[in-house]
Amino acid sequence: MGMEEGIKDNAASAPNSRPTNQLKALLPMRVLQVFLLFFVLVLGISVISMHMIKYLKIQTLAPSTLISTYDERITLESLIKPPLNGWHSMNDSELLWRASMEPRILDYPFKRVPKMAFMFLTKGPLPFAPLWERFFKGHEGFYSIYVHTLPNYRSDFPSSSVFYRRQIPSQHVAWGEMSMCDAERRLLANALLDISNEWFVLLSEACIPLRGFNFVYRYVSRSRYSFMGSVDEDGPYGRGRYSYAMGPEIGQGVVLIQLLLARLI
Ligand SMILES: *[C@@H]1O[C@H](CO)[C@@H](O)[C@H](O)[C@H]1NC(C)=O
Repeated sequence: MGMEEGIKDNAASAPNSRPTNQLKALLPMRVLQVFLLFFVLVLGISVISMHMIKYLKIQTLAPSTLISTYDERITLESLIKPPLNGWHSMNDSELLWRASMEPRILDYPFKRVPKMAFMFLTKGPLPFAPLWERFFKGHEGFYSIYVHTLPNYRSDFPSSSVFYRRQIPSQHVAWGEMSMCDAERRLLANALLDISNEWFVLLSEACIPLRGFNFVYRYVSRSRYSFMGSVDEDGPYGRGRYSYAMGPEIGQGVVLIQLLLARLI
């Protein structure tokens, strides 16, 4: 009786236990199915994206942009190579701060050709531009040009000109006022952004070259001095402007300073 009961019990429990056994057997199958589905999905996505990359040429774009940002970080190029355009988006305080940087190690770890910076301070047009074009012709790499005009003036030199894109961001300038010195400082600061500039020549639109480029370059580069042009001139624009209140420190002879050749290094 007891045994019968036991069998009965077994028999009764058997139908109950069969579905759980089936479930246990099915569970790995489910997992496998889900896994397979997932695998197929991932494979599909990667195949599609690989084709997309090929199709859209992203593959060739991505490594080159990576390389260029990588290059900027490891080469000196970005520091040494001056921008082709004289224009920039720095204001005066940013510009002067940037220009105040100088190397502390005096030996350059690259071949540096010292250049002469020609800084033109003009109201607008450069009437003697054709003369200067001839002066600079064939001496590329030995000079750089900066043009400071009145703020609303835009020069339109063709791309073949040495003055093409050499205009710098400017401010209003009035003759005989401090704004003149600010403009000169602005020119100098822009020239100092190019590490190759070594001699700095300040010019106006009225200046003309009297000697060839080679002569000027050789003369200035071999000299230990700075050059300043002063003209003693009779009449209202020369001695007429002299104030006796400036004496005796400043004599009558020093009245008109027209051209400045500055050697900074
Ligand atoms: C230049 O720009 C900076 C940042 O925008 C500003 O703090 C500074 O006052 C500006 N300087 C001048 C002279 O405008």
